[in-house]
Amino acid sequence: MNWVKKDCTLVVAVAANGVIGRGNALPWKLSTDLRRFKQLTMGQCLLMGRKTFESIGRSLPGRQTIVLSRTGFDCLDPSVIVVPSIEQVAASIDPGKRLMVVGGSDVFRQSLPLCQHIWMTRVLADVAGDTYFPEVDWTQWRIVSQEEIPASDKDDYATRLERWERL
Ligand SMILES: NC(=O)c1ccc[n+]([C@@H]2O[C@H](COP(=O)([O-])OP(=O)(O)OC[C@H]3O[C@@H](n4cnc5c(N)ncnc54)[C@H](OP(=O)(O)O)[C@@H]3O)[C@@H](O)[C@H]2O)c1
Repeated sequence: MNWVKKDCTLVVAVAANGVIGRGNALPWKLSTDLRRFKQLTMGQCLLMGRKTFESIGRSLPGRQTIVLSRTGFDCLDPSVIVVPSIEQVAASIDPGKRLMVVGGSDVFRQSLPLCQHIWMTRVLADVAGDTYFPEVDWTQWRIVSQEEIPASDKDDYATRLERWERL
């Protein structure tokens, strides 16, 4: 059975060399992108792996949080739903909320085949790291919009927000 009942959006920031993380953290400071992330995800349901949740360290206000963990992660935050398998995600989403897959690499890899939308922030530089975004067959996707933001004192690198839809 498809574990995503309906629409599913993947949200990621990825460097030119595919890096998305380093030492279980983000390898950059991108304040503009964090603001965009907040706007895009507000009111929706976030799905993340246990490592990403631990790297954020808390649930994000105004959004439902579902954390995947096979090993029974004991989350002290009662607002967070921990599920032991990806098949159990759909039943846990609050009615009316859109499912947004927000990482990390392990969860992106498993979710990508079932997502209809990708909101990808391209970090316009190679960045050192240890965690990578999986390969995407872009022939299955079309770009619907893009917007560039220059580097600044708030943003380590120039970025381009690309919105993709599955064909
Ligand atoms: N640039 C970005 O947009 C972005 C976004 C998010 C994260 N990141 C970065 O990505 C890195 C973390 O990614 P990661 O790949 O190492 O870890 P992750 O995907 O965040 O978490 C992996 C964990 O999720 C659980 N899990 C995964 N699939 C599961 C399944 N099917 N059923 C049940 N549990 C499942 C397991 O937890 P247990 O071990 O508890 O069983 C697994 O160890 C960090 O560096 C983070 O900063 C970057």
